[in-house]
Amino acid sequence: MEEKVQENSQLLKTVSWDNGRLVMIDQTKLPNALVYLRLSHYMEVASAIKNLVVRGAPAIGVAAAFGLALAASESTSDLNILMKELENAQSTLKSTRPTAVNLSWALERVMKKAKEQNNVGDVKHAILEEALRMSEEDIEINKRIGTHGSVLVQDRDVVLTHCNAGSLATVAYGTALGVIRAACQSGKRVHVIATETRPVMQGSRLTAFELQYDGIDVSLIPDTAVGHTMASRKIKSVIVGADRVLRSGHVFNKIGTYQVALIASQHDIPFYVAAPLSTFDFKNNLSDVTIEERPSEEVTQINGVRLAPQGVRVLNPAFDVTPPELISGFVTEKGVLTPPYEQSFRSIC
Ligand code: MRU
Repeated sequence: MEEKVQENSQLLKTVSWDNGRLVMIDQTKLPNALVYLRLSHYMEVASAIKNLVVRGAPAIGVAAAFGLALAASESTSDLNILMKELENAQSTLKSTRPTAVNLSWALERVMKKAKEQNNVGDVKHAILEEALRMSEEDIEINKRIGTHGSVLVQDRDVVLTHCNAGSLATVAYGTALGVIRAACQSGKRVHVIATETRPVMQGSRLTAFELQYDGIDVSLIPDTAVGHTMASRKIKSVIVGADRVLRSGHVFNKIGTYQVALIASQHDIPFYVAAPLSTFDFKNNLSDVTIEERPSEEVTQINGVRLAPQGVRVLNPAFDVTPPELISGFVTEKGVLTPPYEQSFRSIC
């Protein structure tokens, strides 16, 4: 794996393909350094997803698709062996993170293309083409989400977001932050309140970084200040992303989202979820979805410094579930969907 530190300011592209290598921003180094990694093996991609080098539902889906392209490119085998190797790579990549549905969605979409081919060369070509298509589509879809969502944001609005559902969680542009980006691009002045998002700090490390990078007005608050900030009537709306949306309208997203939604509801503040249709899972029910439990060190330490007694028991769920009654609308590439969700979801698929 090669590493390159970027000094000059340019458009943030979280994952891209360059000359047979998967290039990704190392998000564990942000906000202190903008480092691009060049990955050449699918196991490196699996480890990057597991260790949050790349994170955010759409970004891990596209990274995994390119992981399959790397697995295929390494193979010198015949068609049957190549397909077995790809199935192994698929299962390794899928096992890295269980909650975001985009990961399995992307892997299944690429494998479907691979299975339609009749020889090794065509499989390799088809997988790479599909991964490249997905990465281009991701940006287009996010821009459409932005266009649909920007009507929900007025000039001078203060909008709260949780975690990072921005460029850094997608190939580029973002979902929740895509809505804010589109509103700003249409001339509206928007002030974003970003929660720091303990324990991994995606809000302070990533959202604050990418909004500053793009010149969008942002203030950072501790997670514990959400209630006070909403009670002081400063917030006009909340926009977050999603890792998985069920047919019932339940949303799996970064831990803490549910609390934010509850407080927003208490203060009559609209709470929107911006997500592409690839995040919608109409096959599974609430009890089928695994909420990822992450290492205890994420809670007991910050930057390697221990902040909790040795041996303390830790619960570290990475995601929670927000029920549909707390959600004012879903912003998708096909428009804004409002309750009742079972009905409005039927209209788009
Ligand atoms: O653990 P993470 O950083 O991958 O969690 C990310 C989130 O929860 C995002 O809000 C979600 O993936 C939507 S990204 C457009």
